[in-house]
Amino acid sequence: MTDCLNAVINARLQGRDGLYSLAIENGRFGAITSQSAELKALHNQLDAAGNLVTPAFVEPHIHLDAAMTAGEPRWNQSGTLFEGIECWGERKATLTRDDVIGRAEQTLRLFAAHGIQYVRTHVDVTDPQLTALQAMLEVKERVSGYVDLQIVAFPQEGIWSFRNGRELMEEAVRLGADVVGGIPHFEHTRDDGVASVRWLVELAQRHDLLVDVHCDEIDDPGSRFLEVLAAEALKLDYGSRVTASHTCAMGSYNDAYCSRLFRLLKMSGLRFLCMPTESLHLQGRFDGYPKRRGLTRVPELLDAGLKVAFGQDSIRDPWYPMGNGNMLRTLDSGLHACHMLGMNWIDRSLELITDNGAAALHLQQYGIAEGLPARCVVLQGQTPYEVLLNQRPVVASVRDGQILVQRAAEDPMAALNNTLVSV
Ligand code: FE2
Repeated sequence: MTDCLNAVINARLQGRDGLYSLAIENGRFGAITSQSAELKALHNQLDAAGNLVTPAFVEPHIHLDAAMTAGEPRWNQSGTLFEGIECWGERKATLTRDDVIGRAEQTLRLFAAHGIQYVRTHVDVTDPQLTALQAMLEVKERVSGYVDLQIVAFPQEGIWSFRNGRELMEEAVRLGADVVGGIPHFEHTRDDGVASVRWLVELAQRHDLLVDVHCDEIDDPGSRFLEVLAAEALKLDYGSRVTASHTCAMGSYNDAYCSRLFRLLKMSGLRFLCMPTESLHLQGRFDGYPKRRGLTRVPELLDAGLKVAFGQDSIRDPWYPMGNGNMLRTLDSGLHACHMLGMNWIDRSLELITDNGAAALHLQQYGIAEGLPARCVVLQGQTPYEVLLNQRPVVASVRDGQILVQRAAEDPMAALNNTLVSV
């Protein structure tokens, strides 16, 4: 454990010109003051060296119970969501507490190294023993020094369509899950999907919990559970606590339906999570050419004033064999896939891995402002554009005034010059 910092100096902040000093007192931000010139670091000060400083990154949607299991017991060769669920069903039968804890912590350390300090993980509760859930509740305590972990009771094989599905969800809530999940597009019938959404929102409200539903993760334009989720959230005035994850089918809806749908979405205030690398990989699998991207309507949702964040979804699991924990890679992929490389989008893009993720997680103490916990990352670049160009890892991650991560800044041109032999 290092000494507590008393300031981050020479910091650039989004939306503000010039350099700033961020005072830190007892692990919280103090005064944020403009600097007239670059400062030399004193004892217990972190020098941001003119780089952008943002709130710590948020990973709003990951499956830690399945992380690092790609190829076990077999590879998902078709690359479909449904073969992934089959492979996972086989691997799930061999889960143990130590197995889950080991892989989850390995993944969270990887995340921490990339400046992530807030994580929401889905945990499969379609398991009569609830092995993964019980292990993840332990993980939450074990990692609390470097990450805030929210746990979603996630019914991977359905609530209505899995034996004792409702009882398992209720038991997961009783054991300590923070968020109620769902998967209506995987239930056996549309009616079952609708019933599951109404039931799970009511369950969450009864226990004062958040909601995060895997919603319409399919290219089927007839998959319309999002409207059910939004209508329920609106009816119960619960929208800011309800997240719709994926909503891939929105990429296949017709515009007339979407115009009606967006009216409801704006009224409901739902949060949205898009997992670009995962959906690019899993969706479009039943298309010939042209192939759909299988992503929700990210810029349109943002233009409508709704909160949208990006997540990784998987790290080397039966659904997606890649992933390295770097949210800048996910952000870069999402901006490409969503046609968001206009500078207006690039300038505000970091909100997709910071503030909007915090909104989905319903975090009440997030951001860089006096009085908030001193949690931030120092990026490599002075602007979001520079940060995205090279996607270099954070040079520092600060949590409650303590340095969690610190590495030397990379100079990509110097590295290049050292590599080129005879050019
Ligand atoms: Fe997911």
